[in-house]
Amino acid sequence: MVENHLSSAPIGVFDSGYGGLTILNEMKKKLPEYDFIYLGDNARTPYGTRSFDVVYEYTLQCVEYLFRQGCRLVILACNTASAKALRSIQQIDLKKWTPEHRVLGVIRPTVEVVADLTQSRHVGLLGTIGTVQSQSYPLEINKLYPDIVVTATACPMWVPLIENQEYNSLGADYFVQKYVDELFSKDDKIDTVILGCTHYPLLADKISKVLPKGVMLVSQGEYVAESLKKYLMRHTELDAYCSKNAKIRYLTTENEERFAQSASIFLQEKVRAERILLK
Ligand code: DGL
Repeated sequence: MVENHLSSAPIGVFDSGYGGLTILNEMKKKLPEYDFIYLGDNARTPYGTRSFDVVYEYTLQCVEYLFRQGCRLVILACNTASAKALRSIQQIDLKKWTPEHRVLGVIRPTVEVVADLTQSRHVGLLGTIGTVQSQSYPLEINKLYPDIVVTATACPMWVPLIENQEYNSLGADYFVQKYVDELFSKDDKIDTVILGCTHYPLLADKISKVLPKGVMLVSQGEYVAESLKKYLMRHTELDAYCSKNAKIRYLTTENEERFAQSASIFLQEKVRAERILLK
């Protein structure tokens, strides 16, 4: 079993790029005293179009990197990684580490809230190709709520638009309209739409403008952060490991200045980033 002896144990937050910052932002609000390390695998983003095996391999490398930095708990703040890698990591790879090492995803906390929100019991999902093809959302939702009909549309252009800071452009308007129309052409009874990719909150204003009247848009950050807070309250032994000095480190597999510049837009504050090599 691999142990680490570092005294600082921040909570690891992982995403393929910048999207997980929308989740980290909410975690900072709910758990202001905790230390976090954010890791964006910007050199290999996007994950959404990659195969199961590749997403699993990349995600595992990042999770183990965060463990080696002292993290006991890592949140996959990425739906694609949660859909394609979480289960295998939990069932296979965590065995190599001590039992205090845990990995959690963003799908379960989101599923738990949508059932309370939908009246029509018709839920829409907007996500990456990987998340949609994995069927993780309908499977998880129907396990708990078999009466809910889930209809999904993949939005492959949205992450590149966001990663390239084009989310305020006219091009973004076009692709927002296109995917929302596609979703509602499949099911016009949808009254709740899950933004099933942590990048998408940056397009939330544009998406809300084109949604049919009365349809609710669910961004995950707040729910994932609340669920983490409750998890730490239930698992006091794990909470005791988490260091609490209100420190946040930002790591990226790409250029640190580029990351810092884009992350500052996501977070609305200036940050410093470090470039890392995974191996
Ligand atoms: N932010 C990620 C998600 O929630 C993935 C984006 C990507 O790398 O394609 O799915």
